[in-house]
Amino acid sequence: MNDSKLIEVGVFLPVTNNGWVASTNGPKLPGTYEYVKQVTLLAEKMGFDFALSQAKWRGYGGATNHWNTSLESLSTMAGLAEATSSIGVWGTVHMMIFPPAIVAKMIATMDQISNGRIGLNLVSGSNPFDLGQMGLWRDLDHASRYALAEEWIKVVQQLWTQDRVSHKGDFFELDDCMSNPKPKKMPPIICAGASDRGFQFTIDNCNGSFFPCSDDEKSLARGKRVKELAARAGKPDFKSYGLFTLIPGATDAEAKDRLDFFDAGVDREALARQAMEYSTDRSAKENFAAQYFINQNEHVSSVLGGALTGSVETLARRVAHTITEGQLDGITIIVPDFVDDLKIVGEQIIPMMADFGVNTKVSALASK
Ligand SMILES: Cc1cc2nc3c(=O)[nH]c(=O)nc-3n(C[C@H](O)[C@H](O)[C@H](O)COP(=O)(O)O)c2cc1C
Repeated sequence: MNDSKLIEVGVFLPVTNNGWVASTNGPKLPGTYEYVKQVTLLAEKMGFDFALSQAKWRGYGGATNHWNTSLESLSTMAGLAEATSSIGVWGTVHMMIFPPAIVAKMIATMDQISNGRIGLNLVSGSNPFDLGQMGLWRDLDHASRYALAEEWIKVVQQLWTQDRVSHKGDFFELDDCMSNPKPKKMPPIICAGASDRGFQFTIDNCNGSFFPCSDDEKSLARGKRVKELAARAGKPDFKSYGLFTLIPGATDAEAKDRLDFFDAGVDREALARQAMEYSTDRSAKENFAAQYFINQNEHVSSVLGGALTGSVETLARRVAHTITEGQLDGITIIVPDFVDDLKIVGEQIIPMMADFGVNTKVSALASK
């Protein structure tokens, strides 16, 4: 047990319409800045450590127009940085479409807007249609995408620390590039690459790894594996963050009924489209996200694989068990409704995790 360890808590912001329930029976989340701001202010009030937005450019259609609306990640987080005062604001970039010098300056600017609360989630390559619709998908295999990622982050780090950078690499060229201001504080950098290559890139170049989690053996093994790789690389401070989908109910049975209801209206067309898009990646077999979404289509689930249903007590116990056994340093939360359900998570489930040996800033605030 990890009695004294303080775990970070984040919310995975619903910057897309529908959030993470692809169903005609799901909550009708608008995917607007107003809504995301409401969610972030709520998370901040409850003591969450960070709000993270995904980067998504194209939706999947179907009966629910699933994700046909999506806010751009970094500009959303710049707005939220101004709207908030203590919560971490973490945005996502696709490294193959944003030149590193552009992001280096955007993040340095956001460091000022947020007063040091900005964080960056890196994506090496994910869905060929998402970026291909803009003519920006680079048809690289999995290994080459991580070669690009290695070069990208090294250039960004140089621009944040050196007066002038000249660089001639396989993917990027800089000629006496000056990038000021510098961030006052180096932002936390995370990556959700969940393949072995992705983990290695993340451990070598980032502060934390972010991967989907449930309370099954696979998730526990994944958590331990990250810690093992980090220890081997001599990075004891490296953080592992599990992404949980939580569906709370008054009782276990009611929570399960909620999921069954979502599944009864599952948007098969949107899921099939998503799986088709990911399967066109020539490295789909190595692309963890591709396997994840192809699997979601095969099992026809309206929510991400490994979603946990249950009463407050059940969810507190199951998530706390995963944190202690999987050696997690943080969790990121997805819920069906990001106001009503997030309140249950922040006001009841997370505070109750303290009974199971997991402490957070959220539980400390709730006990006051
Ligand atoms: C928890 C999680 C969050 C992710 N967020 C994004 C995202 O915001 N945008 C995106 O295009 N891909 C996203 N991905 C995809 C991955 O970052 C990564 O590109 C993909 O998994 C391929 O790399 P890998 O094979 O090393 O996992 C996410 C994946 C996971 C597991």
